[in-house]
Amino acid sequence: MRILVTGGAGFIGSNYIRYVLREHPEDEVINLDALTYAGNLENLHDVEYNSHYHFIKGDIARPDDVSKAFSLGVHGVVNFAAESHVDRSILNPEAFIRSNVLGTQVLLEAARQAKVDKFVQVSTDEVYGSLGEQGYFTEETPLAANSPYSASKAGADLLVRAYGQTYGLPLNITRCSNNYGPYQFPEKLIPLMIIQALADKPLPVYGDGQNVRDWLHVEDHCRGVDMVLRRGRPGEVYNIGGHHERTNLEIVNQILAELGKPLSLVQFVQDRLGHDRRYAMNADKITRELGWQPQIDFPIGIQQTIRWYLEHREWWERVRSGEYQEYFAHQYGDRTENTPAGGRAE
Ligand code: NAD
Ligand code: DAU
Repeated sequence: MRILVTGGAGFIGSNYIRYVLREHPEDEVINLDALTYAGNLENLHDVEYNSHYHFIKGDIARPDDVSKAFSLGVHGVVNFAAESHVDRSILNPEAFIRSNVLGTQVLLEAARQAKVDKFVQVSTDEVYGSLGEQGYFTEETPLAANSPYSASKAGADLLVRAYGQTYGLPLNITRCSNNYGPYQFPEKLIPLMIIQALADKPLPVYGDGQNVRDWLHVEDHCRGVDMVLRRGRPGEVYNIGGHHERTNLEIVNQILAELGKPLSLVQFVQDRLGHDRRYAMNADKITRELGWQPQIDFPIGIQQTIRWYLEHREWWERVRSGEYQEYFAHQYGDRTENTPAGGRAE
């Protein structure tokens, strides 16, 4: 099978490409990525010369770029390409609508014309909104997105559904909880906190630190997406979750403990606007239908991830240069010394 992976130079996409080339060496992968600030071909340095891997620099919102990829012959599409950071969506929603909504529609249209065997939309638990202290999101939970990011992902999900209903495009939507693991861009909670702690700098925790996320290792997510691509029932949505709900403060404290750093590095900062309180997934359907289960326990996964960041200092020092520095300065001010103002909208 020749698989078009969009956003393959990002965190999850690059892990997915590596997974496919390892687990299905007979397959071919075309990586279509615009190489935004989050896209980095260094994430794929080890497969760069694999004859079953091809890279095309292109934007999923540009029909010409997408046509170029489809001209190679595509049997399956896995759409990871997106603007993915909630805080950035609060600062600049427009980019999210363009890539996540328009981009998905352009891709769907090309997939329809090419009569692909399967289109998988990689979505998120955030489209369901926020939970109170009890309960879990199921695939039937109504969409109730609260941030420009999650609204753009929900819009994309509805377009994907519409292409199935209207044109009969064989598709699936996966909705996954928070990922962690190697190659995650250090604007997201876990890598950011590891790197701040390594430098003995303050760890900015939004609000009271009691917001809950469900953490899943990226390798487990990739395996789930791949099962859905190959065996998911056309038209179905599959939740993917880690069964590992923790408050942000618990995660941050665990990172500090692993690194032998003091809790005094925690700094409570202004809350994220519209900050969802709790996400928790019921992922029974993918387990029941496809036999998927998470395999990497969080205590092991977090230790491996911390080690990865310790051993790849050059990688994160490079990605933290350039445009990222501007964003970082705008978002938090100089976090090295002062109290940052996380999530502010200016
Ligand atoms: P990321 O920001 O690390 O990577 C996104 C990639 O998409 C980058 O390589 C970027 O260059 C590329 N991209 C962005 N806009 C593009 C465009 N218009 N055309 C082509 N390429 C473009 O994101 P990630 O964390 O790897 O997330 C990947 C996908 O998984 C996203 O769709 C996200 O919504 C979804 N997701 C992420 C998580 C998570 O915890 N990170 C959880 C559930 C779902
Ligand atoms: O739930 C899946 C989603 O997980 C994905 O769809 C998104 O693409 C991905 O970015 C992630 O979104 P979150 O907003 O949950 O992830 P983030 O790492 O930005 O934040 C996790 C939690 O930590 C959230 O409650 C906000 C908090 N946080 C985050 C940062 C960056 C802090 O307290 N301080 C911080 O500096």
